[in-house]
Amino acid sequence: MRMKFNLLALMAVLVGTVHAQSLQEAYRDYWRMGVSVNQWEVKAEEAVGSNLSYSGGVSADQTSHYQAIAQHFGWVVPENCMKCEVIHPQEGLYDFTLGDQLVEKALANGQHVVGHCLIWHSQCAPWFFVDDEGKQVSAEVLKKRMKDHIFTILGHYKGKVEGWDVVNEAFNDDGTLRRSKFYEILGEDFIPLAFQYAHEADPTVELYYNDYSMNKAQKVEGVVNFFRPLIAKGLPITAIGLQGHLIYGDTDYVKEYEQTIQAIASIGLPSQFTELDISMLPNPYGFSGANVSDRFKYSEMMDPYRNGLPADKQEQFDQFWIDFFKMLMANKEHVLRVNFWCLNDANSWRNDFPIKGRSDYATLFDRQSQPKPTVQKLIQLTAPAPVAGSKKSRKK
Ligand code: G3I
Repeated sequence: MRMKFNLLALMAVLVGTVHAQSLQEAYRDYWRMGVSVNQWEVKAEEAVGSNLSYSGGVSADQTSHYQAIAQHFGWVVPENCMKCEVIHPQEGLYDFTLGDQLVEKALANGQHVVGHCLIWHSQCAPWFFVDDEGKQVSAEVLKKRMKDHIFTILGHYKGKVEGWDVVNEAFNDDGTLRRSKFYEILGEDFIPLAFQYAHEADPTVELYYNDYSMNKAQKVEGVVNFFRPLIAKGLPITAIGLQGHLIYGDTDYVKEYEQTIQAIASIGLPSQFTELDISMLPNPYGFSGANVSDRFKYSEMMDPYRNGLPADKQEQFDQFWIDFFKMLMANKEHVLRVNFWCLNDANSWRNDFPIKGRSDYATLFDRQSQPKPTVQKLIQLTAPAPVAGSKKSRKK
C-alpha cells in the first residue's frame, strides 16, 4: 500500500512540472478560452500571396497558423465572415461560404463557435435601411428585415454555433444609446427585439450583448441600467461581452474591468472578454476605444517598433497579462469566456487602427504564430502549488 502511495506522489510531482500544454487546458476550470479567426487562417492555402488580408498580404506560412488556434483555444469567433455586409449582402441573398468553412474547420478540430455579429451599425449592408427608391424604410419594414436576417442565420447554423453577439456596440462611451440607423428607425426597442428574435429563432443558443470601452464607468452604468429592467421582464440574454481592445499605459484596466465584472454580476449576468488585444504603440492624441471609423495620420514617430518590440516593452506586455489574468481568476465565477482578437501580430487589426500601416504587438502570438513567452507565463498561473516537501517548495 505504502509503495503505491509513493508512486502516486511521485507522479503528482512529475505531472506538476508538466502542468498544461495549452491555454485552454490551463484554464479549463476557469472559463472558455477563445480567439477570433479570419478567413485566411481557415483557408490559408487558397489565400497565399493574395492581398486579401486586412493587414496587407497573406504569407505562405498561414497554413500552419490554425495548429496554434486549435491547440490553445477551444472557442472560435469569426473576425469578419459572419458580419451583415458579408453574409447578407443583398435583401434575400445570403452567402454562408466563408462562415461555413470556418464552422466546419472549428467543428473538425473539436472547437465551439460563437457567431459575430447579428445587429451592428457598422459593416451593415447598406440596403438594410433603404427601400428600392433609396428612401429610409419604416419601422415595420426594418423589424421584418431584422427578423428575417436573424432567423435565417440562426436557422442555418442551428446546432453548430452555440452563442451569438446579438447586438454589438449600441452604446456611446457616456452611457447614452448610439444614434445608429437601428435607433433612428426603431428607438431603443431594437435591442430587446433583436434578442427576442434570436431566442425565437433558436431557444438553445446563448445570446450576448457586446461592446468596447466597457472599462468606462459611465458606459457600464448606461448598459447595466438599460438591461436591468429588461432582464427583470425576462429578456433572453446570457452574458455581456466586454471587447477589451486596450492601449498599454492608457489606464488601470485591471481595476476598471474588475469593477465592470462586478457591476454586470449585480444584474445577474456573467461577463465575457470577447476581443482582447493591447496596443504597445504610442497612442495618438489620447485616443481610446475601437470605433472602426476613427482614423489618424501615419508618422514614423507613431510607429517606433518596426524592427521588433524592445525587451522592456515585452516585459511590460507580459506583466500586464499576468496581472489581468490574476484579476480574472479572482473573479472567475463571473467570467464566462476569455477571447483574444486575432491570433497573431501579423493579422491584428491594430496594425492599421487607428493609424494604418504600423507594426503593433497586440496579441499573444508572434508574426509566425509562435506563442510569445507570455503564453507559458499565463499557463503557469494555474499550475498547482508545489507538493509540500518536494524540491521546489524547499526555501533556498
Ligand atoms: O475582404 C475585403 C477584401 O476583399 C479587400 O481586398 C480588403 C481591402 O479593402 O478589405 C477586406 O475587407 C476588410 C475586412 O476587415 C477583412 O479583412 C474590410 O475592409 C475591413 O474594414 C475589415 O476590418 C475589420 C473591422 O472589424 C471592420 O469590420 C477588422 O478586420 C476586424 O478586426 C474588426 O473587428 C471589430 C469587431 O468586429 C467589433 N469590435 C471592434 C473590432 C475592431 O474594429
